[in-house]
Amino acid sequence: MILILTGAGISRESGLDTFRDPDGIWARVRMEDVGTAGAYARNPEQVLAFANTLRRELLAPRIAPNAAHHALARLERESREAVLLVTQNVDNLHERAGSVHLLHMHGELLKIRCTRCGMVRQWEEDVTLATACPECAERGRLRPHIVWFEETPFHLREIERALARCRVFVSIGTSGNVWPAAGFAGQARAGGAFVLELNLERSLGTRAFHEGRYGRATEIVPAWVEEALATSRWTSST
Ligand code: APR
Repeated sequence: MILILTGAGISRESGLDTFRDPDGIWARVRMEDVGTAGAYARNPEQVLAFANTLRRELLAPRIAPNAAHHALARLERESREAVLLVTQNVDNLHERAGSVHLLHMHGELLKIRCTRCGMVRQWEEDVTLATACPECAERGRLRPHIVWFEETPFHLREIERALARCRVFVSIGTSGNVWPAAGFAGQARAGGAFVLELNLERSLGTRAFHEGRYGRATEIVPAWVEEALATSRWTSST
């Protein structure tokens, strides 16, 4: 199995900002104010407003999957070996490119959740404390279905299983700052996988990788997929 982890860098050339680059989101707003469970408890209006901004940006007509997203969808379609895509991204660009076997470990910006009744559904509108839950009608209990700092990522059991059995692990467009994802390459390697990094620059976890290829995602990801589909080094049928 080929296990692929993606981060904000894969969506950069689609027009979405990363978090920790000099022009990234955390250079403009304080993560402690808008990206933690504690911030939501203290000041839900501010946290919801930040998510509204990100949601509107994602829904802008100019935002579309790029060649890297399309290449990973192609890999899943054409590979003889199973491909599982785990993304830290809350955007929907992988699914728009056609990836199917996909886990959003940090949730999805275009879904909301009601903290009263547990409802989760697709949502494209702004959310405020005045927005009523479409299921239970309670106001003030809707939040984006994303994972904030201090919360547990989704799908960890399935990801752990995949890390233990994957043959190849590829990390794409992530800086390696955020755990547990930052530890996945080391875990996969300990389980016997070949681990490869595709990123603009070396990430923090660079020592965990057997190999690194550095450049823009829209160039290096399609090139690697082309190679992976052409040679048995990357896609064995066993
Ligand atoms: N092509 C490839 N890589 C790129 C590109 C590009 N065009 N542009 C930037 N990058 C790389 C950067 O060099 C950096 O290493 O993408 C990485 C982005 O890192 P971060 O901004 O830290 O994003 P990510 O690793 O996904 O962040 C993890 O942090 O704040 C949280 O929850 C948020 O899921 C996110 C998590």
